Amino acid sequence: MSKSWTMDRKKDYYYKMAKEDNYRSRAAYKLFQMDERFKLFRPGDCVIDLGANPGGWSQVASELVGESGMVISLDIKPIEPIPGVKILKGDARSILTKSQVKELLAGKKAYIILSDMAPNISGNYSMDHARSIELAEMSLEYAKLFLKPGGSLAVKVFDGDMARDFFIKLQKNFRTVKRYNPKASRKSSSEIYYVAKGFK
Ligand SMILES: C[S@@+](CC[C@H](N)C(=O)[O-])C[C@H]1O[C@@H](n2cnc3c(N)ncnc32)[C@H](O)[C@@H]1O
Repeated sequence: MSKSWTMDRKKDYYYKMAKEDNYRSRAAYKLFQMDERFKLFRPGDCVIDLGANPGGWSQVASELVGESGMVISLDIKPIEPIPGVKILKGDARSILTKSQVKELLAGKKAYIILSDMAPNISGNYSMDHARSIELAEMSLEYAKLFLKPGGSLAVKVFDGDMARDFFIKLQKNFRTVKRYNPKASRKSSSEIYYVAKGFK
């Protein structure tokens, strides 16, 4: 990590705010902004958060669904415990992880699936874009396995030529799909979010 990157990060508005508000990542504000715009969460909802490390989105989700809700968070990397959140360490693509999610759901279905999953950046944009689409497709598979009819999926992709096909796949499975750039995304970022509501 370069020194200038570390210094830029410390000057960042959302980074500072996350420190002050005790969120684990500046990404927490992207989810608040998405919720403000799309009204995703309701008290008592069940949420699956894919690619959740270090846990900013899971903290927000858990706050918004409250004690009567349920949040299952998973990542390849370990996630420090978050009160009230069920944490899994595993690759979202593996069959074992899917069966662990199923077990935690104990016969229930989720009403919201979040995916902020991102591949390790290789520096080769087309490769990073393709990997990001592969992870986004995986979140759609989770929706098919675990999402209640009427439920929502919010998923990140690195924008590029394959994003359009993914958007069309989402449209086939959800009543509405919107493309969204939260204000809290870095100006330099190529990430976009698709917010799909009304799972068919
Ligand atoms: C941008 S971070 C998520 C930040 C998180 N939303 C937050 O608010 O703290 C992306 C995460 O996706 C995870 N990830 C990437 N590929 C994954 C996979 N196949 N299975 C599970 N997690 C994955 C990475 O380990 C990384 O922690």
